[in-house]
Amino acid sequence: MDNERVAIVTGANSGVGYEVTKGLAKNGIHVVMACRNLEKASNAKERILLDLPSAKLEVIAVDLSDFESIKTFAKEFKANFQHLDLLMNNAGVLFNKPRKNNANIEMQFATNHLGHFLLTSLLLELMPDSKNSRVVSLSSIAHKNAEIFFDDINCESQTKWDTPYAQSKLACLIFADELQRRLEAAGKKIISVAAHPGGTDSGLFEQMPPFLMSILRYTFVPIFLHSTESAARPILKAALDSDVNGGDYYGPTGLFEMKGRPGIAKRTQYSQREDVAARLWKISEEFIGSTFKVDPQ
Ligand SMILES: NC(=O)c1ccc[n+]([C@@H]2O[C@H](COP(=O)([O-])OP(=O)(O)OC[C@H]3O[C@@H](n4cnc5c(N)ncnc54)[C@H](OP(=O)(O)O)[C@@H]3O)[C@@H](O)[C@H]2O)c1
Repeated sequence: MDNERVAIVTGANSGVGYEVTKGLAKNGIHVVMACRNLEKASNAKERILLDLPSAKLEVIAVDLSDFESIKTFAKEFKANFQHLDLLMNNAGVLFNKPRKNNANIEMQFATNHLGHFLLTSLLLELMPDSKNSRVVSLSSIAHKNAEIFFDDINCESQTKWDTPYAQSKLACLIFADELQRRLEAAGKKIISVAAHPGGTDSGLFEQMPPFLMSILRYTFVPIFLHSTESAARPILKAALDSDVNGGDYYGPTGLFEMKGRPGIAKRTQYSQREDVAARLWKISEEFIGSTFKVDPQ
């Protein structure tokens, strides 16, 4: 169906991605659930269909830490869909111990940032040139404590366990802004928007240091955090609302931006540095082994 709206949600099988998938499906959007674990994805799809029997959902496998898997996903998507209206770059990992992907790149930077950078570069050509075509990238409050360690992207000389995660989420925010600048420069109407969910007790917490997770779960979570359904609201706003502009950044507006009504989120000066953005784009192209041209003509 030509006028059908189509979205891809990465990491759609749990947490925020699951709720975003549900929210988009409720709006009549055909959602492709881009997940690495097909069994979890198919269970998630069944759960949504129980609530919303008319939802249009497909599952296509992708491992965002693996560049070949992303290329295979893009091929399969292009073989089945003529256009893409919403690319929800949601999937994310948080690790308490260093890990690397099969290209020897720190796993959080590879999955959270580079995987989505490559995915977007492969799919942008399918997006109609309209303000309703959106790339939504998930960042985090964690970006506020971060910088990009260009000389140590794997964070091997960093001592805090959460530095690589913070760096990766900062990269997602910088990518969203730089993509918007490049879309504008190319005269495109497609927009790039960033959003963060605040704090929610999702699968992401499972990889935190165990003592920290226990403290969080029994003290912090019930008071300061919100449900995954509520955490998905700023992300859905970024995808769907008509008053959204390219380059906007949304999140919850309550205490410490952890929960509350969706609105414009706060970001650091560092995250807005265009020299950093240009450098990040360049090294990201080097990592994925191809150029990302917003307007290939
Ligand atoms: N929870 C929070 O408080 C919080 C705060 C700020 C930002 N965020 C951001 O919100 C987004 C969603 O996280 P969440 O809280 O919903 O966590 P979650 O419940 O753990 O969901 C993460 C999703 O990403 C998927 N994923 C992880 N690695 C992947 C890979 N290599 N390839 C494909 N999919 C992969 C997971 O799939 P599997 O089920 O297979 O693992 C899961 O579906 C993330 O970008 C996260 O950084 C979350």
